[in-house]
Amino acid sequence: MTAALGKDLVGLEELSAEQLQLILDTAEPFKEVSERQIKKVPALRGKTIVNLFFEASTRTRISFEFAEKRLSADTVNVASSGSSVSKGETLVDTARNLEAMRIDMVVIRHGASGAAQFLGRRIRSNVINAGDGKHEHPTQGLLDMLTLRDKFGRIRGLKVAICGDILHSRVARSNIWGLLKLGAEVAVCGPASLLPRNVSELGVTVLPRIEDAIQWADALNVLRLQLERMQGGFLPSLREYNRVFGVTTERLARAPKDLVILHPGPMNRGVEIDSDVADGPHSVILPQVTNGVAVRMAVLYLLAGGKPDLAVRAGRGEER
Ligand code: CP
Repeated sequence: MTAALGKDLVGLEELSAEQLQLILDTAEPFKEVSERQIKKVPALRGKTIVNLFFEASTRTRISFEFAEKRLSADTVNVASSGSSVSKGETLVDTARNLEAMRIDMVVIRHGASGAAQFLGRRIRSNVINAGDGKHEHPTQGLLDMLTLRDKFGRIRGLKVAICGDILHSRVARSNIWGLLKLGAEVAVCGPASLLPRNVSELGVTVLPRIEDAIQWADALNVLRLQLERMQGGFLPSLREYNRVFGVTTERLARAPKDLVILHPGPMNRGVEIDSDVADGPHSVILPQVTNGVAVRMAVLYLLAGGKPDLAVRAGRGEER
């Protein structure tokens, strides 16, 4: 347990501006580790981390695993298929059995909102939320903020429009909490059927048209339409969505300035974002992925009790 972040990382809603800043600053020295020939420092040597991924993931799962390995932790990956979850074992029983093998941390992705907090209250190990239902995806919010800070040199005062399927998006929630705490202005833009009721109570501006978001923002964070979470009736068709809300080169050409384009992935190319935007000069989609490893290294390091003022030395492979 560490005073810097507490026991678990469940969401950005619970963190202070100082804690958010601390994670972003701690990520800085860890960026360089991934650029080395030998991508490894001993900061978490002797720690055992279990990655419990009960929902599909490419970026987050692999990024956590790289972060753990680059900090020299021992890691085990568990998916629901192939584990006793598929035979009906509960989440808590699974975690308690893992604890009986003396683990230190659990990284969990789960389809149920609140799963990470539920687990964190029932086991001694540190729990890190890697995305829980529609609730939060805190390390995605952090890596988005780190990428914005790299690009603009600051978060305070930035205008960030989060566009698309806000209703089903844990990424939107983590970005809203994090960006507002660090002094950014945040707007959401999407069809009314994909905006949470009373979203403006979170402190965001609602922009009904993508053209308005493009006029207003410094950066667009374009979200995937989460078709797997829609039972139907949310949208007339994907073609219609692209026609009205798609982020296209033609629309961006009418912006008063060059907008930085983020997307958490996976992308639906030709639906919420066109390929020439995703692959274009103002896209930071791949730098987001690169920053994900450093942010997760920072979170793991701090939750494991690493001293913030020694992170630079930890990044050099010295003591933590
Ligand atoms: N951004 C994100 O969470 O991607 P994955 O679902 O591939 O992990």
